[in-house]
Amino acid sequence: MIEKTVCELFAGVGGFRLGLEKENPEWNTVWANQWEPGKKKQYAFDCYVSHFGKSENYINEDIASIDKNIIPAHNLLVGGFPCQDYSVARTGAEGINGKKGVLWWQIRDILEIKKPKFVLLENVDRLLKSPAKQRGRDFGVILACFNDLGYSVEWRVINAADYRICPKEKKNICICL
Ligand SMILES: C[S@@+](CC[C@H](N)C(=O)[O-])C[C@H]1O[C@@H](n2cnc3c(N)ncnc32)[C@H](O)[C@@H]1O
Repeated sequence: MIEKTVCELFAGVGGFRLGLEKENPEWNTVWANQWEPGKKKQYAFDCYVSHFGKSENYINEDIASIDKNIIPAHNLLVGGFPCQDYSVARTGAEGINGKKGVLWWQIRDILEIKKPKFVLLENVDRLLKSPAKQRGRDFGVILACFNDLGYSVEWRVINAADYRICPKEKKNICICL
């Protein structure tokens, strides 16, 4: 059996970790990263630490500034990467080229270096249609990255309300093996 080691990116207040630990307390988050750009007070990170405890492996820095080689080995990478740029509701949304959209490449870089066996990502269902002016381009780029790195990919659009998460909001879930 493989070790249940997890790297939690864009950790926020630790939603992935809560779910995993509820499913099986053996899941062990060996590294987590959360940073709110431009904010002096890091509420989400403070909440994470207050809930899960302080650790030198919970990092409150811009993921783009981190040397990916320092991340410990892990078998599962999880993350709900920022979705603002994937919204097709805003016609000007830049998708994967936007200020936050480009954070996809941080995930890709970590996958290339750390090679976790499993990846579980979450985003809005509009990611599938982003950007508005070139529908589907961004998800195509993401799928191509996974393919280049040797992952096979499955994805589902789920209704978060079915999981008692957030009424009326649909989420895109991407499971990569
Ligand atoms: C969609 S939320 C993830 C929510 C999380 N799954 C949870 O359970 O709270 C994306 C998170 O990425 C963080 N973030 C945005 N830019 C970041 C960056 N450059 N480096 C690290 N974290 C960043 C945001 O502050 C936000 O908490």
